[in-house]
Amino acid sequence: MEHVEHPGSAVQAPVVPGRLPLLGHALQLWRQPIAFLESLRDHGGIVRLDIGTWPVHVLTDPDHVHAVLVQQAQRFGRGRVFDRLRPMFGNGIVTTDGEFHRKQRRMIQPAFHRKHIAEYTEVMCRQAETMSASWTAGREVSMLTETRRYALSSVAEMIFSGDLSRPAVAEVHRSLPVVLEGMLLRAVMPRSLDRLPIPLNRRFDAAAARLRQIIDQVIAQYRDAHEDRHDLLSLLLSSVDAETGATMSAEQVRDEAIAIMFAGTETPATTLAWIFHELGRHPEVEKRLHAEVDAVVGTRPVRPADLCELPYTNSVFQEALRLHSPLLFTRRALVPVTLGGVSIPAGAEVAYSPYALHRDPGLFRDPTVFDPDRWQEDADGRPHDHRYMPFGAGQHKCIGDSFAVAEILVAVASVASRWHLAPAPGITVREVPAGIPQPSELPMIPVARR
Ligand code: HEM
Repeated sequence: MEHVEHPGSAVQAPVVPGRLPLLGHALQLWRQPIAFLESLRDHGGIVRLDIGTWPVHVLTDPDHVHAVLVQQAQRFGRGRVFDRLRPMFGNGIVTTDGEFHRKQRRMIQPAFHRKHIAEYTEVMCRQAETMSASWTAGREVSMLTETRRYALSSVAEMIFSGDLSRPAVAEVHRSLPVVLEGMLLRAVMPRSLDRLPIPLNRRFDAAAARLRQIIDQVIAQYRDAHEDRHDLLSLLLSSVDAETGATMSAEQVRDEAIAIMFAGTETPATTLAWIFHELGRHPEVEKRLHAEVDAVVGTRPVRPADLCELPYTNSVFQEALRLHSPLLFTRRALVPVTLGGVSIPAGAEVAYSPYALHRDPGLFRDPTVFDPDRWQEDADGRPHDHRYMPFGAGQHKCIGDSFAVAEILVAVASVASRWHLAPAPGITVREVPAGIPQPSELPMIPVARR
């Protein structure tokens, strides 16, 4: 139901304390971005902070977030973070909005249909098996590297399957990490610095160009071969918009493939890394998870059908994702909007932080405690309101959510059926700011379970 407010009595959002001339709150954000974002809830449900001279209205109340993402979504476009990503990622669904975004999303959605997810899950099962079979008992592995490689392979195999694409998959493994690392910095740094001939920019531009080039080559081969390879690229190339009869140009298909790769790699990799970290720190949770996996999977490889038999493993995943959620997304008001009695002018930037919401003590009891049982309390194991939104909501809600759930559960079950992963001694894992804040490092030691 549309939420109606009367602009006449609206006030301006309170400015967060500590604003400096010209710098605004940039120093606080720079020094301690995560703690600063979390502290904003103490100042109101909608607060204003300035990044330099760029004002942002941050929503700290889940009802306001829901209003912006769902109820009043047509009044908001993408915000600045997405504008800055567009030159790199083109016009894929991750950066666009309005009618163009709706049309593209309609055309891409079938690739994430349940029947395709089931096919992709078969591939994930094989990849998870390869990952956990490659470890040696007692020999330390970097779980940051392992989970990233697994996530990259999962997404690359979904986009281009088959031998023809092997060079492309290899290139994705080489270039995407460079692009992902440079991306966060580019999203916040002024546009004028993009062209500075510093190594960071050179590496980034070269990797982005290589990625585009190799995907263009694969698309040309697909077009020449005229055969359906049951992957995302074949699907996008043959997709016809039911409403307009339009098809996608080769450039658009390439932009969508890059956008999906970009949105779908780091997030599941980081979530998986945190799950293994939390299991390593909570032996009683790990024990229950092992018992569930032993009962369902035993010693054979994981199968797609196993996933719906793993409710406790699913709760562990939901809880790790609650504690380690995406940090910040932006929107821009297209018209003047009043929200919770606060007026937001047309053109103003609005932001929400799943991370800060999920650690709000007013929304979750003992929010910093890792407690998978909190998800078992609900009859169906899911929250019934919009406090929990790791995948966003509304028209830009994560298109890959079911893909991510399958990918993560497969990997956790596959690893758990063979290994206990012990934290490497003497290491303190810190949270490092990123799309989803990441572990600073995550060396772990596989210990054979049988
Ligand atoms: C744990 C894993 C993941 C998390 C936490 C996550 C989170 C999110 C969130 C919060 C959004 C909405 C952003 C906004 O409000 O602007 C989003 C959008 C998106 N995600 Fe994910 N994501 C995950 C995995 C994936 C995967 C695996 C894929 C693809 C294979 C993917 C593809 C996308 C795309 C294409 C969008 C843009 C959708 C649109 O604007 O229409 N994500 N994701």
